[in-house]
Order: sequence, then C-alpha cells, then structure tokens
Amino acid sequence: MQKKLNKIAKDTNSFLKRFIKKQKKSELIIPMKYGLFSGGKKIRSKILIDIGTLFKLDYKSLIIIGSAVECIHAYSLIHDDLPCMDNDLVRRGKASTHVKFGESTAVLAGNSLLTMAFEILSNKNLNITEKIKINLINKISESSGHLGIAGGQYLDLSFEHKRISKKKIIDMEVKKTGKLFSFCCIAPLILKKRNNKEIKKFENIGADIGLLFQVADDLIDYRGSSLVAGKKTGKDKKKGKATLISLLGYKNTIKYGNKLIFKINNKLKKYGSKSKNLSETLDYILNRNK
Ligand code: IPE
Ligand code: IPE
Ligand code: MG
Ligand code: MG
Ligand code: MG
Repeated sequence: MQKKLNKIAKDTNSFLKRFIKKQKKSELIIPMKYGLFSGGKKIRSKILIDIGTLFKLDYKSLIIIGSAVECIHAYSLIHDDLPCMDNDLVRRGKASTHVKFGESTAVLAGNSLLTMAFEILSNKNLNITEKIKINLINKISESSGHLGIAGGQYLDLSFEHKRISKKKIIDMEVKKTGKLFSFCCIAPLILKKRNNKEIKKFENIGADIGLLFQVADDLIDYRGSSLVAGKKTGKDKKKGKATLISLLGYKNTIKYGNKLIFKINNKLKKYGSKSKNLSETLDYILNRNK
C-alpha cells in the first residue's frame, strides 16, 4: 500500500510542480507550495485511481483530477489549523502554514489553492471534452462549499462542547470530509458519461469512505502518537469536539468503522476481483496510524 501511495504522491507532486512552474510568479507561491508539498498521504487520489481502474480510465487523467482534489484538500488543512478554527501549530510534522507565514498569508494561500483546483480542471492539458470539465468543476465546487467542506467545518466548530446526536455527527463528518471523497468516487463515472443513477450510487459509496476516513482520523486523535501522526493528538477531547468516540466510546467506534467497510465492500461485490485494490485501501484507511 505504501509503495502505491508513494508512486501516486510522486506523480501528483510532479504534475503540480510543472503546473505551478508554467504560471507567472507571485508572493503567495511559497506559502502555497508549503501547504501543498509538505507531505500528505494522497489517499483521495488513491481512491480516485482505485475507482478509475474499475472503469478502465487512463492513469494520467486521474492524476490530473487527483491533483485538483489535493489542492482543495491542502487548502482545507491550512484553514482548519488557523487560530479561528482548530488552532493547531503542527501539520504533517512541520509548523502549520499560518505559524510559518502569518495568518493573513495562510488565508490567502488557502484561497489560492482552492481556486487553483478549478484552474487545473479547466486547463487544456486535461484532455477531455469541455462538457465533462464543466461537470467535474460543478461537482468539485459542490463538495467544497456550504454543502461540503465549508459547511461541514462550520458544523464541526458549532458542535464544540455540545451533546450532539449520532445522526448530526455523521452528517457533519460526511460534509467536512466525505463529500470530497464522493467527488473522487464519481469523477471516473463522469468521465465515462455514466447515468445519474449510477453516479448517485458512487456518491453514496464515497460519502461512506469519507466518513470511514474521518472516523479513523478521530481514532488517531484518540489513541495515536503526535510524532507518528505528524500533528498534535489528544486534542479533540480537550476542544470538546463532537465525534463518534465522544458519543459511542472507543470500542464501539472501531466497530462502527468495520461495519462501514463491510457495507462498502458489499456495494462493490458486483465488480468482482477488480475491486480488490479499493478494498485494500479501505482496510488501510481504518488501520492507519497517520
Ligand atoms: C486530514 O487528512 C484531515 C481530515 C480530513 C481528517 P489527511 O489525513 O488525508 O491528511 P494528509 O494529506 O495525509 O496530511
Ligand atoms: C478536518 O478534520 C477536516 C477538514 C476538512 C480539514 P480535523 O480537524 O479532524 O483534521 P485534523 O485532525 O486537524 O487533521
Ligand atoms: Mg477541524
Ligand atoms: Mg483539525
Ligand atoms: Mg482530526
């Protein structure tokens, strides 16, 4: 798994480096690169490629679309660490972007990474029809805005120090993390011009994968080591974050994660042995320690 992730990271980073190099220079490039190339598992790109191979899509296009996703993800982490949000000083084993460059620069570098995703998807080096590009941009925008990351982050912060129902916690986690995974799961179907019913099915699979990913992240915060995770752990409880662990306890949350994997694998059954890579990724997601 790590080898596969390393290859994806290498290919994604080299695409992004070339993309940025072709642009005119600006003062924000250095903090943007700091947030973008500071590490990161590239798990969203891995999911995109796992689903893409189910539909026999070309690796290069998937890397470009994954690069756009990783820009949005990097933006969301820069903003997530800001003092007005989680107020975290360490990210990917280094000083958070706002610690290194100041708050206003971090906000602007984050904004610029968000919009860079749209530049990448609309660029001519992505060799697909304009109609499909518009479709991708439409979906990735939805997954990032008030119905996705931004809306989920709002709920995450407004739930602090409150007793929140399981249903609401799941809704928050699906929005802040799941929606971008949904995009990764439907992008291959959009490229293949599959029908809305099938797209909806993969949107739901993506939401479950993203929820699984966030549940595992919450477990890492609960039991993980800061050194391994590359970010401070044990902070969700202190901040009064509403997580499934705070509601159901540690053991039941692990059970919940395993149930999610079972549910997702069931939905993938019809793809037979082709879905093996994806199933491996799901196990990695729940059992990872960073
Ligand atoms: C962390 O995401 C934030 C969450 C959505 C839980 P990742 O764990 O994917 O972060 P990197 O990219 O590997 O650092
Ligand atoms: C972040 O969730 C989700 C985002 C969309 C950025 P967390 O706040 O739990 O992520 P970490 O633990 O700081 O990486
Ligand atoms: Mg947060
Ligand atoms: Mg955080
Ligand atoms: Mg966390």
